[in-house]
Amino acid sequence: MDPVRNPYSPGAGRKPAALVGRDDALQTWAIALKRAELGRTDQPFVLYGLRGVGKTVLLSEFRRNALKKDWIVAQIEAGSGKPLRELLGEALYAPLADLARPSSGKRLLKALKTAVSFKTSYDTTGTWTFGLDLSGTPGGGADTGILDTDLKKLIHDLADAAEEEGVGLAILVDEAQDLAVDELVTLCTIAHAAAQDNWPALFAFAGLPSLPRILAEAKSYAERFQYSRIHQIDQSVVAEALTIPAAHEDASWDDDAVDVVVAASGRYPYFIQQYGQETWNAAPGSTITARDAEIGVLQGNNQLDSGFFRVRWDRATPSEQQYLRAMAADGDDGSSSGEIATRLGKKPKSIGPVRAALISKGLVFAPEHGVVAFTVPGMAAFIGRQIEL
Ligand SMILES: Nc1ncnc2c1ncn2[C@@H]1O[C@H](COP(=O)(O)OP(=O)(O)OP(=O)(O)O)[C@@H](O)[C@H]1O
Ligand SMILES: [Mg+2]
Repeated sequence: MDPVRNPYSPGAGRKPAALVGRDDALQTWAIALKRAELGRTDQPFVLYGLRGVGKTVLLSEFRRNALKKDWIVAQIEAGSGKPLRELLGEALYAPLADLARPSSGKRLLKALKTAVSFKTSYDTTGTWTFGLDLSGTPGGGADTGILDTDLKKLIHDLADAAEEEGVGLAILVDEAQDLAVDELVTLCTIAHAAAQDNWPALFAFAGLPSLPRILAEAKSYAERFQYSRIHQIDQSVVAEALTIPAAHEDASWDDDAVDVVVAASGRYPYFIQQYGQETWNAAPGSTITARDAEIGVLQGNNQLDSGFFRVRWDRATPSEQQYLRAMAADGDDGSSSGEIATRLGKKPKSIGPVRAALISKGLVFAPEHGVVAFTVPGMAAFIGRQIEL
């Protein structure tokens, strides 16, 4: 069918034409938004799961839903090497600029002045004015250089301004496992304070399966956060991820065609989008058949091998690739780190740095002590397809 009308969207963070199987999480978020507007704040949300399972897309839906209610929203992605200060500051500029007006209430003016001071704490060359004269306004002071103090002041004043505007403040952090420890501790502390003191501020963190443990190690009260493991799409609704986007384009899927793609995908969203896209392009008519789906899966696998898997594999050094190969013998379920050392003929201690590097690159994680597993579903099979040089 016409590739121009192809409704599938493989790719990191790309909004799917049909976001399926996430009703529970979206419902909980919707309730939290309403509660916050009544002055009842909830503990931070933590969305964690494997690569390509749909965490970013869900977090972005959280953002959209908050924006629909005119909330002040900042969504950031850790891991780019930029400090949290700068990421948050820059993400807040546009929403604050939209709110700023000469008739702004006192608390909003104060928050704007505090935001201006926060900006100067990480950027001495640039400055914000919001087109307002804030010289006589109270506020500011978020530029002490102490992250805890500055961020708490900023978020407190913003939440206060949001309350004045009859809305709330949402801070959404993707790839949160990549935050520096002090940044994570600070965010946990502030999120906790917000929940305790009923600031109308909601926090959501998304990241790899290692995130709950990283949070727990950062702050003990992170145990009280609301954890949701994001899994593959449930069997009962997975077909809709294929059929709804097609129906919008006046096309349909035979049931056995859906079965082919669902089975090949293991119900992982990324794979569904990739196979869906290739199947669409392969289908000659507007009814997609099992034969089309089989071609789509084959071509989809080529695309995944040269994209989704390849970029991750190429990120590993030769010695890291050796380690990953040794893991691949166990499939996707995880391997004992001791056993991998034996396979590589090395002492466990000597390969510790390789393991640590793979964890910090987000390619593997430790589901429990002494165990490592791939963060990327299907990685073991991919490695099996790579010729050893
Ligand atoms: N609920 C869903 N229904 C249909 N497709 C989805 C769903 N969630 C995500 N997708 C699709 O899956 C792909 C991966 O989504 P996303 O980037 O959000 O995953 P992720 O968990 O953030 O991955 P990573 O850990 O690599 O960042 C995208 O192509 C997206 O369109
Ligand atoms: Mg993501």
